[in-house]
Amino acid sequence: MTEILNVQLEDRTYPIYFNQDDSILKETIDGLHQNNKACYLITDSNLYSAYSDYIESLGISKEHVCVVPQGETSKTVEHYEKVLSFLATRSANRDAAIFAFGGGVIGDLAGFVAASYLRGVHFYQIPTSLLAMVDSSVGGKTGINLPEGKNLVGAFWQPQAVFINQKFLKTLPKKQFASGIAEVIKYGLLADKALFDKLSTLGTINFDNESLPAIIRRCCEIKAEIVSNDEKEIADKNGRALLNLGHTFGHAIENVAGYGDYLHGEAIAIGLHLACQLSELTYSSFKKTDTEQAIQLLSQNELPTVLHKPLAIEALNKAISRDKKNRARGIRFVLMQTLGNAQTEEGIDETDINALWKKIGAV
Ligand SMILES: NC(=O)c1ccc[n+]([C@@H]2O[C@H](COP(=O)([O-])OP(=O)(O)OC[C@H]3O[C@@H](n4cnc5c(N)ncnc54)[C@H](O)[C@@H]3O)[C@@H](O)[C@H]2O)c1
Repeated sequence: MTEILNVQLEDRTYPIYFNQDDSILKETIDGLHQNNKACYLITDSNLYSAYSDYIESLGISKEHVCVVPQGETSKTVEHYEKVLSFLATRSANRDAAIFAFGGGVIGDLAGFVAASYLRGVHFYQIPTSLLAMVDSSVGGKTGINLPEGKNLVGAFWQPQAVFINQKFLKTLPKKQFASGIAEVIKYGLLADKALFDKLSTLGTINFDNESLPAIIRRCCEIKAEIVSNDEKEIADKNGRALLNLGHTFGHAIENVAGYGDYLHGEAIAIGLHLACQLSELTYSSFKKTDTEQAIQLLSQNELPTVLHKPLAIEALNKAISRDKKNRARGIRFVLMQTLGNAQTEEGIDETDINALWKKIGAV
């Protein structure tokens, strides 16, 4: 049976379908075609090799499938332009619908294309990585990177629907699966101690773990609720920014190491470790044992908690100061009062940050 979770926005809601058997997805595409709306699908080279027959079975013709190279390096102005030209040369009009079939890279790129092509066309998310299922496909943040930093160009553009189907996880490489688990752990740390405890009891989580469907759904519930309350991340305190737990550090690591050295989730895992350390320094309620538990949970899922080679602290701090999450008032960190209870915090001392960078092997 298909489970549905609605994401409530200010002006509309959209559904996330869980583990549907493709019938709703096919009906959606058929419905669009019947109304003379052309459907385009954007995917990456890995997914196209594994799923070209599947894509065809959805009723989207080969000429309407745009394939970009796999990986973070496709989230660039160059590939963004290529996808726009792909649509323009096929005379896609304002009634066109774009389907993002892939991980977070494809969702972010295709979403930004949808947000900006002809000033905005409808788009649908079909996440295929764990990270995209629990995080990036929901909530409408779309965008690309600049050499100066991650996600520096983008738009809030919510999908019309999200179709989550765990069957795709069977072909997801193990390391990529672990990268998605980092975001799952983030949800436990920021909003749900019971989820954190549950994850801790599971050992290494695999794609066929029987608890995974409920875990994916729980992450989407947390994200949907946070997004509903602060869709465009404008709340002065807390709000959608809470979803950035570990990301201020993680994005700096990705940027300085060069995209591709760490998977997104791996950089976030180190960032979560640092967020725990900083929480310990900032609040007496966050204990050393809490940090140790978080490290244990990350490690049991084969995620790093320190750098594998030294990075320069100066460059990391520069990257942090360029991060788009910063406001005029200064850098905003997400910290935890206790496990499962996060809040935003400003005015953190740079010497504390430098000490933490050293702890994870930066110089
Ligand atoms: N928009 C948001 O709210 C948000 C949130 C979190 C992360 N992100 C972004 O998401 C990106 C990371 O996403 P990701 O980890 O999914 O990366 P990704 O899209 O690069 O996918 C990871 C790798 O797995 C492959 N892959 C994906 N699904 C597969 C499958 N079912 N079978 C075989 N291979 C498969 C891809 O080809 C790629 O090589 C980052 O750019 C990050 O900034 C966005």
